Amino acid sequence: MRMSCTCVVGLQWGDEAKGKIVDLLTAEHQFVVRYNGGANAGHTVVKNGKTYKLSLLPTGILSPPLRAVIGNGVVVNPVRFLEEVRTLQGAGIAIDPHNLAVSDHAHLIFPYHVEEERLGESDADAAIGTTGRGIGPCYADKVARSSGIRVGELLYPDHLRARLRQIVPRKNAILRAVLPTARTFDADTICDEYLGHGQVMRPFITDTPRLLQQALRDRQRILFEAAQGTLLDVDHGTYPYVTSSNSSTAGVWSGSGVPARNLTRVVGVIKAYTTRVGRGPFPTELNDGPDGIGEKIRKTGREYGTVTGRPRRCGWFDAVAVRYTAALSGADELAVMLLDVLSDLDEFRICTAYELDGRRITDFPSDAFLLERCKPVYETLPGWKREIGEARKAGDLPTAARRYVDRLAELIGLPVTIVSVGPDREQTILCR
Ligand code: GDP
Ligand code: IMO
Ligand code: MG
Repeated sequence: MRMSCTCVVGLQWGDEAKGKIVDLLTAEHQFVVRYNGGANAGHTVVKNGKTYKLSLLPTGILSPPLRAVIGNGVVVNPVRFLEEVRTLQGAGIAIDPHNLAVSDHAHLIFPYHVEEERLGESDADAAIGTTGRGIGPCYADKVARSSGIRVGELLYPDHLRARLRQIVPRKNAILRAVLPTARTFDADTICDEYLGHGQVMRPFITDTPRLLQQALRDRQRILFEAAQGTLLDVDHGTYPYVTSSNSSTAGVWSGSGVPARNLTRVVGVIKAYTTRVGRGPFPTELNDGPDGIGEKIRKTGREYGTVTGRPRRCGWFDAVAVRYTAALSGADELAVMLLDVLSDLDEFRICTAYELDGRRITDFPSDAFLLERCKPVYETLPGWKREIGEARKAGDLPTAARRYVDRLAELIGLPVTIVSVGPDREQTILCR
């Protein structure tokens, strides 16, 4: 028997406001699962006037009795895990092993991963513009096998020490070969530190695929919370300017152990415009200076990265890209976020096609170097020049705002079921 599970997935380059949608859907589910990424994510939720920022833990942890799960596809830095648990507990959120589980199969991020990433990113030509959290090197070790270490191994001191004594000297040699002044590490020091973290984490460490399989048998509903966006998916995104995991719905099955056929609802989250942090092609980017529309959107939308504080690159909505990601992630419906941010503009543009080497195309190119050469083809729609933060139903929106949302739905070919007009939970319009 298949269960009704939901996935909330970003259809752009991340920061689409997935956290707010997850928070809205928690009441309909008993479990919430992060299946990819790590503390590179930054999900902000505004609830009862309070702002919460989640990075490694699922946003659903804010809504007990929902049980939050860090799935096997996630990469875990124990320091960040414990920091986040303590910060949330300090903010009055009850967190204990009854409502939080972390997979024994999730891979561990070590300090040498962060150093490896720092060295890689210090080459301006090769840099991806990562969050610097050791995500990529950790996934690389996972796939390489001989140097990957999983959360469950924290509970076996002799075993962990033997593995680190084998791995760390090799890491040091590589680091020093890349840069003679690179940081190096002592296996026993790392081991002692991580064994300490392991003891605190012990009650949370679980065989999560088995936990979730049991949940399905108990007819519990599971909500999957994607990190990043589908355009950052390592297989389907704008490679190599992507993250190192499957951030589309493709990651659900491998990253949680729940067969994807249980997904009966995929909510594709989009901003009413586009943002991107880090390097990589972005055809609709607005590079129009300090007095331009790009900067206006950045200021109004407070478009600065949660994890790194970097200004997010801003641009017009790209329907070519979202048609591609909506199909890839199997989206059933769209949540259009941050519509209020556009309220002060005279008119908007939507990219409906690209011009590539003199030819008009409507299919998203499969290579970043080709996307780099694409020029957007726009259609223009009138603005509404009115605050919309108080709108609570579609009828409260100005006609031009409704027309804009309808046009997005038409171009993507999916219904818009949620429109968000502000960060607060109440600033939401349910369209069905
Ligand atoms: P996520 O990573 O996809 O969860 O998105 P982020 O949390 O990184 O970025 C979305 C930001 O927009 C957060 O600061 C939210 O509080 C905020 N936000 C969410 N919905 C709206 C909205 O409709 N309007 C405005 N102005 N802000 C919003
Ligand atoms: P949420 O879940 C936006 C970007 C980084 C960089 C690339 C690779 O909040 O939407 P990484 O550190 O993952 O190796 O960096 O991916 N990136 C994000 N951009 N939102 C995120 O998460 C991101 N997580 C990673 O900026 O370009
Ligand atoms: Mg974010």
